[in-house]
Amino acid sequence: MKFKIAHISDVHIKFEDNINSILLSRLFEDISQNECNHISITGDIVENANRREFETVRSIIEKFGYLDGDKLSVVPGNHDIFGGVSRDIPVYEFPAHCRDLDYQKKEFDFFNFFNESFRNTIRDTEIFPYVKILNDDIIIIGLNSVAPYSEVHNPVGTNGKINDLQLKNLLKLFDEFDVSGKFKIVLLHHYFNKPGSMKNDKDHALWLKSEQSKMKLHNKKVIVDTFRKLKVDVVLHGHNHITETYLLKEMIFINSSGCLRPFTRSKANRYFILEFDTEQKSFKLEMRQIS
Ligand SMILES: [Fe+2]
Ligand SMILES: [Fe+2]
Repeated sequence: MKFKIAHISDVHIKFEDNINSILLSRLFEDISQNECNHISITGDIVENANRREFETVRSIIEKFGYLDGDKLSVVPGNHDIFGGVSRDIPVYEFPAHCRDLDYQKKEFDFFNFFNESFRNTIRDTEIFPYVKILNDDIIIIGLNSVAPYSEVHNPVGTNGKINDLQLKNLLKLFDEFDVSGKFKIVLLHHYFNKPGSMKNDKDHALWLKSEQSKMKLHNKKVIVDTFRKLKVDVVLHGHNHITETYLLKEMIFINSSGCLRPFTRSKANRYFILEFDTEQKSFKLEMRQIS
């Protein structure tokens, strides 16, 4: 049996910006025409983390029939918690906005806006990590990699961290049910490769190098070691607005964050579809380009 998962990320929907909503509908049209069974969205779903933006995205997802736990999995990005610089919050006020924000409330708002997608999740009392089983063969693991505000380590909310409690709870969840023979996919927002390794997009690599101190995932090594221990097969992520794949410690990392707002010279909107053959226990990867 075939099972298709579309991966998209960083669509940054703004309420007042209709163009992004039109592009998101076009992306969903492509996903739906390709008969994808499930969509995974790895954060920065909205731009300023306000109700109207989340409602805009919800209505598009619902229109295409994907607003359901079996059909949709989501994790937050920094913009879904902290938002971004905007007309309401100018750049010089943004660090104070990040400092004063109620992180836990924003995480809970995110959960509520996409509550249908959490219907079939298995988790502890916290929202993240969660685990869900798709089609009996595929395990989705959802993590929140958005680090809390820190004057030194995360002054504008863009850096990443997965706290010890999330990793501990994840190991506990895996102890509780039989995961053998199942395909394991992690969803999180932040990336793992080095900026210099993006040889195909030199301008992008240079931009990322200059932004490095504001874009990094803090406890990368511990996270990768935990994924290895859990025998994770694929990691889906976003954050740096490029579409690419790479290998790390025998795991495949897939980044579809150039699907709608690419930071590349070509400006091509690309995303990935993972097609699983559940009898053969294999999958193939297709890169789609919508414009
Ligand atoms: Fe983003
Ligand atoms: Fe991001």
